[in-house]
Amino acid sequence: MLERPDQVPWWRRAVVYQIYPRSFADANGDGIGDLDGARQRLDHLAWLGVDAIWLSPFYPSPMHDFGYDVADHTGVHPLFGTLDDLDRLVAEAGKRDIRVIVDLVPNHTSHEHPWFQASRSSRDDPKRDWYVWRDGRGPGEPPNNWVGAFLEGPAWTWDPHTEQWYLHQFLPQQPDLNWANPEVREAVYDVMRFWLDRGVAGFRIDVVHCIGRDPELPDDEPPWVGIPHCAINEHPSTHEYIKEMRAVVEAYDGDRVLIGETALPGTRWVAPYYGHGDELHLAFNFAATHAPWDAERWRQRIERIHEELDPRGAWPTWVLSNHDMPRHRTRYGGSEARARAAAVALLTQRGTPFLYGGEELGLEDAVVPPERVVDPGGRDGCRAPVPWLRAPGHGWGPDPWLPFPPEAAERSAEAQRADPTSILHLYRRLLAARRRSDALRLGHQELLDAPAGVLAWRRRCGDDERVVLVNMGDAPATVAATGTVEVASDGRGEGAAFDGVLDVDVAVVLRP
Ligand code: GLC
Ligand code: CA
Repeated sequence: MLERPDQVPWWRRAVVYQIYPRSFADANGDGIGDLDGARQRLDHLAWLGVDAIWLSPFYPSPMHDFGYDVADHTGVHPLFGTLDDLDRLVAEAGKRDIRVIVDLVPNHTSHEHPWFQASRSSRDDPKRDWYVWRDGRGPGEPPNNWVGAFLEGPAWTWDPHTEQWYLHQFLPQQPDLNWANPEVREAVYDVMRFWLDRGVAGFRIDVVHCIGRDPELPDDEPPWVGIPHCAINEHPSTHEYIKEMRAVVEAYDGDRVLIGETALPGTRWVAPYYGHGDELHLAFNFAATHAPWDAERWRQRIERIHEELDPRGAWPTWVLSNHDMPRHRTRYGGSEARARAAAVALLTQRGTPFLYGGEELGLEDAVVPPERVVDPGGRDGCRAPVPWLRAPGHGWGPDPWLPFPPEAAERSAEAQRADPTSILHLYRRLLAARRRSDALRLGHQELLDAPAGVLAWRRRCGDDERVVLVNMGDAPATVAATGTVEVASDGRGEGAAFDGVLDVDVAVVLRP
């Protein structure tokens, strides 16, 4: 049953924009993005039409994983600014009706976090049990066969001082917290309250599927042996912990949201994290990011969402790019036409879309020479600085931490803002079309028959209706659909009757 559009919680109607602070905008000219830089670009985001921003970590950190190794959950790293800067950003965003979501990293901390420093100081320390310590299977042999992410060695590191191994599903500098310990959970819930009290709209929860673990820590079995354990970790206790987090946010007004990073193999794995309306509000579904630019494969992904999420009343998420994978323009081969068509396909889906900073400029990954690679996971290309200005430097200090993406001058926000035919303007038109149509924002989705290579669907909410056609094939197609072109990825013919012809890598939104 359809809820009345005005009663739908904001996060179902929203488009969320991810800011990776290091890469977004640099206010003080040291070549690293910062919170003030983000604040100065709020007008860009308001003009674009986003409803919320999600800030990747800006917390104190030794930066082994560029901030996802948190050393203090309630502070701001001096590189990014101060707590006052954060408060200002939240306040200024609020004036523009933009909500701010922050990143919560509950699975692990930095090895420099005071909790871990205490935990590793002695086997008798009161915080010993806050992390996962075990004896090995024998000299030099870790407790099980789990593999960590990024370095692809054991998910365990030997601590010579206390002569035990500690678990880390990610880097050795990211020891896993022991969520079975209620003190740990309370400590994390206090962190959540700290940010909720400061007015944030909710959390994006880092690798939330990893926090509960089988207390026996059994070996991974084929076919998963050798795959980072974090990619498959699942345990029923995780759902109990998420329910507790849900209770924390529900004690606040204003529909605060929990968005979980459920980085699991497919939609079927992701669905249970919505619980029965008592776990995550939104769970990241990366299924589309694993699909090539292929109509049949996209169609299967969409069908799977209908099968797995709709029966639960769970609202999908859509994401094509983030700070952990090559940008989708790069993945799809680099053509701008295709990036434009992908923007239409993303922003007209049923579900809350997430944009990754700079995606609206049609950025590709930077080419990062080996000597400038800094990320242990090799994710540098998508983290290149966002070019704001046309002139050299592009609005950044003289020595940005990574090279710029290709064609930074032409793709800068300044250059594209001045060109109504740019991909930036296309994103803006799509966001506006979504905002004015209940069908696009909230409506049902029905996949339609279409010629090979074309993906087609109808969205409907009450009397409001749109049809979306995307030619992902390698030849122009003729489609038996009629209506007025509301948005076209190639910009031509908006407002005119659709002539039925779709060129390669072209997408249109039709109004009946
Ligand atoms: C998530 C983050 C990623 C990070 C990892 C460990 O997947 O998105 O950037 O490296 O968790 O915290
Ligand atoms: Ca800076």
